Amino acid sequence: MIILVTGARGPTGKAVSRYFEKDGHTVIGVGRDDVDLLDRAAVQELAARVEREHGVIDGVVHLVGGWRGSPSFAETSLDDWDTLHDLLIRTLQHVSLAFEPLLRRSSDGRFVIVSGKAVEHPTAGGAVYAAAKAASEAWTLALADALKGTNSAATILVVKALVNDAMRAARPNAAFSGFTDVNDLASAIGGLYDRPAAEVNGIRLDLTT
Ligand SMILES: NC(=O)c1ccc[n+]([C@@H]2O[C@H](COP(=O)([O-])OP(=O)(O)OC[C@H]3O[C@@H](n4cnc5c(N)ncnc54)[C@H](OP(=O)(O)O)[C@@H]3O)[C@@H](O)[C@H]2O)c1
Repeated sequence: MIILVTGARGPTGKAVSRYFEKDGHTVIGVGRDDVDLLDRAAVQELAARVEREHGVIDGVVHLVGGWRGSPSFAETSLDDWDTLHDLLIRTLQHVSLAFEPLLRRSSDGRFVIVSGKAVEHPTAGGAVYAAAKAASEAWTLALADALKGTNSAATILVVKALVNDAMRAARPNAAFSGFTDVNDLASAIGGLYDRPAAEVNGIRLDLTT
């Protein structure tokens, strides 16, 4: 398969890339140094290049993230909103708009975002994060609607938080309770191919339960 991983240079992106590469799939990994996902024309050109070079896309795993919070609701910084709008919403818009036509033509495509439990229970200081993730979920559900009747699916995976080996090494006594290991996240993404596209299209798959 041909799998695009955005945010590929971080620990999560590396785990997901490794997961697909070890099974012989081709991973096109994108970090900020490769393509600025805030540049719509550059993302369109990326999709055109993938189509020229591979003809198809079988997976788009969108892993660009970021977090901002404030001590209280009243102290919320709208600069933080602007930051999260770009990271969590605008990059998703560019990537999904550019790759939807290729996903529609895929014989077994998956589009994945990773959202947070925070969307279900926004905290006073977490308004910008919860609202930005809620918007990215709604956007992804609209993509799912666009993919209805095709062989592709758009799916929201939900975690409380992610943990990787570097985090465990830095805090050896921390329990990271309820966290999802990035390798388990990768397996969950791979598992979406074990189910028919129609079954995972437009669902919110909670990895914390
Ligand atoms: N970490 C958590 O606890 C947690 C909780 C809930 C949901 N999630 C979601 O899970 C996913 C992975 O999380 P994460 O913590 O591994 O993500 P992250 O480290 O916050 O972001 C992943 C990568 O996104 C890249 N990026 C940022 N802006 C970009 C741009 N304009 N163009 C291209 N690349 C850009 C960065 O690449 P460079 O390094 O090249 O700048 C970064 O390595 C994210 O969608 C996040 O929202 C994470």
